[in-house]
Amino acid sequence: MRVSVLGMGSMGRAVALRLLGRGHAVRVWNRTPGKASEVIDAGAAEASSPAEATRDADAVLMSLADDRAVREVMARLAEPGTGPGPDPSPDPGTDPATGPGPDPGTEPGSGPATGPGPDSGTEPGSGPGAPVVADMSTVSPDTSRALAGLAPGGRFVAAPIIGGPQAVVDGQATGLLGGGRGLVDRLGPVWQDLFAVQWYCGDDLGSALTYKLLNNYLLMSGVAVVAEAVAAGQAAGLDEAMLGDLLLRWPTVAPALHNRLDDILHGDHRGWFATRLGAKDVRLIAEVAESKGLRLPIARLVEQRYEEAAGRGWSDSDITAVVELLRERRG
Ligand SMILES: NC(=O)c1ccc[n+]([C@@H]2O[C@H](COP(=O)([O-])OP(=O)(O)OC[C@H]3O[C@@H](n4cnc5c(N)ncnc54)[C@H](OP(=O)(O)O)[C@@H]3O)[C@@H](O)[C@H]2O)c1
Repeated sequence: MRVSVLGMGSMGRAVALRLLGRGHAVRVWNRTPGKASEVIDAGAAEASSPAEATRDADAVLMSLADDRAVREVMARLAEPGTGPGPDPSPDPGTDPATGPGPDPGTEPGSGPATGPGPDSGTEPGSGPGAPVVADMSTVSPDTSRALAGLAPGGRFVAAPIIGGPQAVVDGQATGLLGGGRGLVDRLGPVWQDLFAVQWYCGDDLGSALTYKLLNNYLLMSGVAVVAEAVAAGQAAGLDEAMLGDLLLRWPTVAPALHNRLDDILHGDHRGWFATRLGAKDVRLIAEVAESKGLRLPIARLVEQRYEEAAGRGWSDSDITAVVELLRERRG
């Protein structure tokens, strides 16, 4: 497919590289010039604006930092003169016969249904010049719902990713897909090449984001608590090699934390997921709960830890840097 990737941060670059490697025609754009050299060297073309990237694309994938960024870039997709042009017929792409749930197409060897149907790409308002926009960023559920009204022709799906950049490059990431089933399936070849596992989360765009935020809350709180356990073990003078070994083997430590244990133990925070983004995700899930009248006191505490780490110079460092708050205090 002809795929444009907007945002050349760690994740956007990984998505572009993965899709290039699977034979898609990839065009990229980034707000700050000069960040796309790796993917251009790998065969991507570069667009000078989001609207130019959108022209003639089948899929426009956004991988941007936060709610503000996705709203700003979405507003630029239909800038006059360069975009796909007005599309008077909104294309909700829903298929009432399908609802939320695990996607049978996620089993190895199978994929989402892509055969002819109400949104198979043959109806007016689809085809060249009518891309589907998919947001892979982690944003608030309400922002995701609002983006549907801003996307050209209303052709918008949510596609937050579970897994870091290396998992994406290796095809090992999980995709949480939300929105009209027909629109989601129209990008089936992209999901198939990008994800090892994909879950269709239903028509409501916000649900895919809520699942994603729940996962990240568990990750962020897990890293913060393991950081405390490691710092406590080190302060108590335990053997570091044995501590690392036991943390890897104990069932109380989630598998998703395993690839961060060494970095927490040894203070290497070059990683792949910035503390500022971790703080954002925990704040967003706390806000989701609070909007329903439910306070999450632990989430607010975890958010505060990552905000503090970001404010102390670890903003662009990996979330493992939260351990440095404890080490700083010991002096
Ligand atoms: N890293 C991970 O492991 C991971 C995993 C899953 C999901 N995510 C989510 O994926 C998204 C991207 O993460 P990342 O790690 O790739 O972040 P990143 O490396 O910090 O990249 C952020 C991207 O957003 C762009 N951006 C920020 N503000 C913008 C604005 N106002 N207008 C236009 N572009 C703007 C940046 O452009 P500039 O270069 O111009 O600043 C950059 O391309 C985030 O929502 C994150 O939470 C990350």
